[in-house]
Amino acid sequence: MADKARLTVGTEAYDLPLVVGTENERAVDIAQLRAESGLITLDEGYGNTGSCQSRITFIDGERGILRYRGYPIEQLAEHSTFLETAYLIIFGELPNEQQFREFRELISEHMFIHEAMRHHFEGFPPNAPPMAILSAMINTLGCFEPQITGPEDEENFTAAAARIISKVRTIAAASYKKAIGDPIIYPRFDLSYTGNFLHMMFCRPNKLCEPDPLIERALDQIFILHADHEQNCSTSTVRMVASSQANLYASVAAGVCALWGPLHGGANVAVINMLEAIRQSGESVESFVTKVKDKRAHSRLMGFGHRVYKNYDPRAKFLKASTDAVLNKLGIHDPLLDIAVQLESVALRDPYFIERKLYPNVDFYSGIIMRAAGIPLDMFTVLFAIGRMPGWIANWREVHTDPHGRIYRPRQIYTGPTARDYVPMSERR
Ligand code: ACO
Repeated sequence: MADKARLTVGTEAYDLPLVVGTENERAVDIAQLRAESGLITLDEGYGNTGSCQSRITFIDGERGILRYRGYPIEQLAEHSTFLETAYLIIFGELPNEQQFREFRELISEHMFIHEAMRHHFEGFPPNAPPMAILSAMINTLGCFEPQITGPEDEENFTAAAARIISKVRTIAAASYKKAIGDPIIYPRFDLSYTGNFLHMMFCRPNKLCEPDPLIERALDQIFILHADHEQNCSTSTVRMVASSQANLYASVAAGVCALWGPLHGGANVAVINMLEAIRQSGESVESFVTKVKDKRAHSRLMGFGHRVYKNYDPRAKFLKASTDAVLNKLGIHDPLLDIAVQLESVALRDPYFIERKLYPNVDFYSGIIMRAAGIPLDMFTVLFAIGRMPGWIANWREVHTDPHGRIYRPRQIYTGPTARDYVPMSERR
């Protein structure tokens, strides 16, 4: 197989090295192209740009495959826990018993937030978006951790990773309690990671409660399914910030902001809003699907389509099955699930969606499980962020430990005005 690609521009030819990944994905390395030819590559939206080489997550979008560190997502969602998967993603291998015990102990040790941080919640207005609070509070966490170090300090890095993963769930639950005017609930040492999150979300000082094991497992699986997804918008943001050698807290706080948007993590909220609007209006799913195909309507079938998957998103496949199972076991009939199933069926038979290879993505069904668990709508994307934390941390570490790492700095093709002289205000028309 050739190990070079040849680019011909006019009468000049340039040989460009090929890079091949462990799953035989091939890339043309254009790093020297500008130096040799004066040319840059242009790929708006990075649809065909490899920004890094990474050992963390593999996706084959054509075949609907997702693996963390080589392990298929279906096996992890079925057999692993979120904490074990987090360890795998961050450190590269599944933990043995001792490694896992130590990691869990670190998570337990760091489950509380500094008492002084509680006052920060007072500064937000009652209806502040939880994603804004989460991002601000993660940066605030950094202010309380003067020993933030680089990942070359293995012990401190492990503690920092455990601290963020643990505290982010405490912050998330506290922001919810603040929003509804309830007292903040302290975490418990005897509960699992996800059980503790449910405890802090739904218990009250005068209402002791135990997390429902079914809901606890379903949410834990949602966290596993969201734990990493290679170079998506928020992870690329984390890597971009990390490349300036910004600390872990600052970098993942930026990831939270990137995740917030409705085309990314915010899509799980948009899906429920869309399903609810269809339900309330009584509009048929056929008519809704016709509308989203019309570009002038500027609306999309939320929870459908993906930059990388041109097949069924394996996370959506898993979630569709578990949504059915969870709702059945809880004895819940959610009319939004009926609408979602009908929408999927109509869309997957429609030439518009077939030609563009648009399938349900992870957000299409995850919201229905979260609703069944009693998670309020504005917390959906926060749950996505809790789940994505291990992936962001692992990517931050990869950037920081890359011996050839450089600051990320794309180029552009300038299309603005050419050079012109300053005109005093009095002479401007
Ligand atoms: N509904 C209707 N049409 C769609 C949809 C959709 N959900 N998604 C893509 N299309 C159409 C586009 O209009 C475009 O059509 P055209 O070729 O006639 O112009 C074509 O399919 C390709 O779409 P792009 O926008 O170019 O695809 P891109 O890779 O840039 O976007 C994205 C991917 C953002 C996920 C898009 O499919 C979308 O907006 N989906 C809905 C939002 C959503 O569910 N986001 C969650 C993604 S998963 C995640 O981030 C966790």
